[in-house]
Amino acid sequence: MSEISAGKWRDALPVKKLKNGKKKMVTVDKKMILVGLQDEQYFATEALCRHMRWPLAWGAKVKDDCIRCPLHQTTHRIDNGELVEWSPFPLFPPYGKLVGKMSKQKNLKIYETRIHESNIQVFF
Ligand code: FES
Repeated sequence: MSEISAGKWRDALPVKKLKNGKKKMVTVDKKMILVGLQDEQYFATEALCRHMRWPLAWGAKVKDDCIRCPLHQTTHRIDNGELVEWSPFPLFPPYGKLVGKMSKQKNLKIYETRIHESNIQVFF
């Protein structure tokens, strides 16, 4: 299917290294990515928050198909990376909005995942 396009499947980590509800930051092909398993669904995103590059493996919450950075709670969809909320936190004092202005709003990069020979693979 995707093998006909220019990219390639790469091993990210062994299936047994990722428990349901967990996520891990890994380097694959010199790219830092986040691989997670939530509700028995694998997902992979770029590793750092688009707002101020906080590593999402450190405390980000995955809920309702979204990943939320713990720092200022920027939220993106994990299926297509679409921005849901940009730096809303804290509301008062209104630092969230202020630091939100320090960088341009962006979507999160999402990678396709699959299981192949007991490895979680991502597609670059
Ligand atoms: S660094 Fe992630 S929301 Fe600000």
